Amino acid sequence: MSSSTTSSDGKLLGVLVLTRHGDRAGFYQDPTTYTATGTIITPLGTQQEFQLGQLLRSMYLNSSSPLNIPGLNDTIVNQNQIDVRADAGGELGVIYDSAVALLQGLFPATANYTTDLANGTDIEGALGGYQYIPIQSVEPNLDVSLEGYTDCNTFTDATTAFYNSAEFKQKANESAAFLAMLPPYLDGRPTTLENMYNIYDFMNVQSIHNAAFAKVLPPTFLAQAATLASWHEYNVFTSPQLDGPGNIAGRTVLPNIINGLRNIANQTNPILFAYQSLAYKPFLSLFNMTGVAQTYPQLANLVNYAAAVTMEVRQPSDGSEPVIRFSFKNGTDAEFVQYNLIGADGDVTISALANHVNSALVNTTAQWCTVCNNTQDRGCGALTEAANAALASASASSSGHGHQRISPVGAGFLGAGLAVAVMLAMFGMLAFLGCLVVGRGTGKRRKARAASPDAAESEEKA
Ligand SMILES: *[C@@H]1O[C@H](CO)[C@@H](O)[C@H](O)[C@H]1NC(C)=O
Ligand SMILES: *[C@@H]1O[C@H](CO)[C@@H](O)[C@H](O)[C@H]1NC(C)=O
Ligand SMILES: *[C@@H]1O[C@H](CO)[C@@H](O)[C@H](O)[C@H]1NC(C)=O
Repeated sequence: MSSSTTSSDGKLLGVLVLTRHGDRAGFYQDPTTYTATGTIITPLGTQQEFQLGQLLRSMYLNSSSPLNIPGLNDTIVNQNQIDVRADAGGELGVIYDSAVALLQGLFPATANYTTDLANGTDIEGALGGYQYIPIQSVEPNLDVSLEGYTDCNTFTDATTAFYNSAEFKQKANESAAFLAMLPPYLDGRPTTLENMYNIYDFMNVQSIHNAAFAKVLPPTFLAQAATLASWHEYNVFTSPQLDGPGNIAGRTVLPNIINGLRNIANQTNPILFAYQSLAYKPFLSLFNMTGVAQTYPQLANLVNYAAAVTMEVRQPSDGSEPVIRFSFKNGTDAEFVQYNLIGADGDVTISALANHVNSALVNTTAQWCTVCNNTQDRGCGALTEAANAALASASASSSGHGHQRISPVGAGFLGAGLAVAVMLAMFGMLAFLGCLVVGRGTGKRRKARAASPDAAESEEKA
């Protein structure tokens, strides 16, 4: 372990940031399938995310801060340096809008965002020079990475098994007296332990937004409900094994996190700030899979609204492999606290983290379909058809030589190719219909700018 850790500070190369959305109203999720509905960000939620953005700015985009990221443009956004993704599942508005608010705090409007027109007029950007930063909205139907848990049959089975376990039944007995006192506060919601997250979430939303509710709710009830909901959700969104079904939220988001860290470490890649706006679920799996919840048991819990993880990438002064430093801030009222990853003592190399989680990663849709035992949703239907067609043609062509079957690797490969074709077709159709939410539309521009730094420069100065 000591070879993969270091205490030397080195040069900060950039940061990867993960956040939970801000305060929201409404919300309900199915306790077994975890599909979420009926929620919207609130003005308080936008404040929480905006303040978080301002705080990150004061840390990373501030030449007098010890954490200032060298080369990261801090006034006019250089879109090549920023990579933003937002979960566009059932909490779409909440999570996407949280990213918008955070970015407004990170890159505030500036009077420098102007351009000289041919007719001699100098025009400032809208809203006092507000800067529009592309956000890739990650639609679960097109990309499993940020919501690997919905439509995942093995995850749902594991959740059901947990609800049927002796451990769960014991907890249900222990909490029965408390749950029996809740009906007056739940507006008809079922008071079963299975439904614990919804119970807590409803009480939390009401205590923040409903004065009458906040007044009548007995003082300890919200904290008691939070403790039970945390226990419930940690068990649902983790597994004893790194590659267990409960960890699916972490297993699908980690490939992107590791890529993001590598992009930051790679000096020829312009990305310096990679940011993902998320629901609370991936945090539970991530804290489990990266070992922080084991070293620091208090992290085996739900995270608050506008919670944030930072993973700073540093180049050690001896020129060895870049290392990661992990910190967590549990919502608006908390500070960033540094935690050691994977049981190490100090920073760990990117490959040490990657190697630790490697066997559990779900890197492709085809892999997700297999891991989640799904043959119909999220593109798995097309993959299954392609695999069946490949099997049929392989067995037809080999009928004279017994039953020679295409290898699973071959089938997966064909499937992945078809998935790309299907996605390209859907992409084309959506673009045609004009309803595609463009996040990644910067690819071409990135190349164009990289090829012509002068053009980029003058565009930024303009
Ligand atoms: C120059 O063009 C801009 C944009 O069309 C317009 O708003 C502005 O009034 C023009 N200025 C003059 C002096 O014509
Ligand atoms: C992950 O969570 C499971 C409970 O689901 C627990 O048994 C295991 O020890 C945890 N692993 C770590 C590294 O915290
Ligand atoms: C975050 O804070 C809440 C209380 O505000 C606490 O219940 C929860 O355990 C904390 N979560 C983590 C991961 O530290």
